[in-house]
Amino acid sequence: MRLQDCHNFHDFRELARRRLPGPIFNYIDGAADDEVTYRKNTESFSKVDLVPSVLKGVREVDLSVTALGQKLALPIYCSPTALQRLFHHQGERAVAAAAAKYGTMFGVSSLGTVSLEELRQQYDNPQAYQFYFHKDRGLNRAMMQRAKEAGVNVMMLTVDSITGGNRERDLRTGFSIPFKLTLGGMIQFALKPAWGLNYLTHEKFTLPQLDEHIDMSGGALSIGRYFTEMLDPAMNWDDVAEMVREWDGEFCLKGVISAEDAATAASIGCTGVVLSNHGGRQLDGSRTAFDQLDEVLNKAGDKLDILMDGGVQRGTHVLKALSMGAKAVGIGRGYLYPLAAAGQAGVERALELMKTEIERDMRLMGARSVSELSQENLRGS
Ligand SMILES: Cc1cc2nc3c(=O)[nH]c(=O)nc-3n(C[C@H](O)[C@H](O)[C@H](O)COP(=O)(O)O)c2cc1C
Repeated sequence: MRLQDCHNFHDFRELARRRLPGPIFNYIDGAADDEVTYRKNTESFSKVDLVPSVLKGVREVDLSVTALGQKLALPIYCSPTALQRLFHHQGERAVAAAAAKYGTMFGVSSLGTVSLEELRQQYDNPQAYQFYFHKDRGLNRAMMQRAKEAGVNVMMLTVDSITGGNRERDLRTGFSIPFKLTLGGMIQFALKPAWGLNYLTHEKFTLPQLDEHIDMSGGALSIGRYFTEMLDPAMNWDDVAEMVREWDGEFCLKGVISAEDAATAASIGCTGVVLSNHGGRQLDGSRTAFDQLDEVLNKAGDKLDILMDGGVQRGTHVLKALSMGAKAVGIGRGYLYPLAAAGQAGVERALELMKTEIERDMRLMGARSVSELSQENLRGS
């Protein structure tokens, strides 16, 4: 199987599965507890059907949107994800470059493996910095200052991860940073020597967003301990309000599900929320972002930008979310499998396929621009 054989999400996933050692593939592919929410994320899109309009004379299709003050050439963006250089040696560089080529936003994770400064300097697309809130307020201020100086466009505070989700696939394989592989996990690594060779012959693995502030080197602090010891589970609205004031720019909360929370976010000055259940990786049994869209839009849609992510695999999923009223749609695994499958070329192919699908679907819907999509195009199935 080669990159040219990948025509959709499932093909990329299969190629990634063939290339990655099992523990790494399962880290991407897995989710929390029984993975019910993970499955529901995609299933929820089939609860509504699209109602196309015909004979609209659609010659050109404009896919651009404005979200969080950023003009995006595509209505999809690459949501921040951790550890990308583990999946392919080009890591965040590949994803940022592909997102820049397609004129869309790229989110840099706090657990990213390339520095936000480098990514900001090298690629000129809008960039969001995904932030975790630490117990140490001085550390939070220093990290925000660093992001400000780097020229980050959007601060994206993840609020659904005050503790780590229960990812049982990782417990079985021993996936953690640093690795604590089980025997089964080790055998799975041994079965993919090409990945090992590639990993060892490229730049050493680091977490530059954190390394400057916290000693994560040489396994001094594991990512698991980082979550339990350094992040603040007591983070509350007052803390975030202070951050919003300090940042004084585009600020969104990632991981909101409740309409009430979206309204509170607006009241403390946030400019957006990303409805998200973290790809099903945190609270299993949580409602899906797509299912919540309507309620949240009714409560807070006129007060701040509502974005969403989770389970997006098809252009029609994007069209349904946009018709419902989302300003933009994030993808996670939708670019991570392509990254693992073929680096930058993989992510570019995935974005190209998505672009083509969305464009084709817009034509079939009779919509010349995203603003022509509305809930009028949707019916419950
Ligand atoms: C492997 C992996 C790592 C992730 N790392 C982060 C992260 O560091 N910070 C964060 O806010 N979200 C993280 N996410 C969640 C994504 O940003 C996004 O919310 C989710 O992947 C969307 O669901 P999807 O994968 O079905 O598209 C991660 C997701 C995956 C799959």
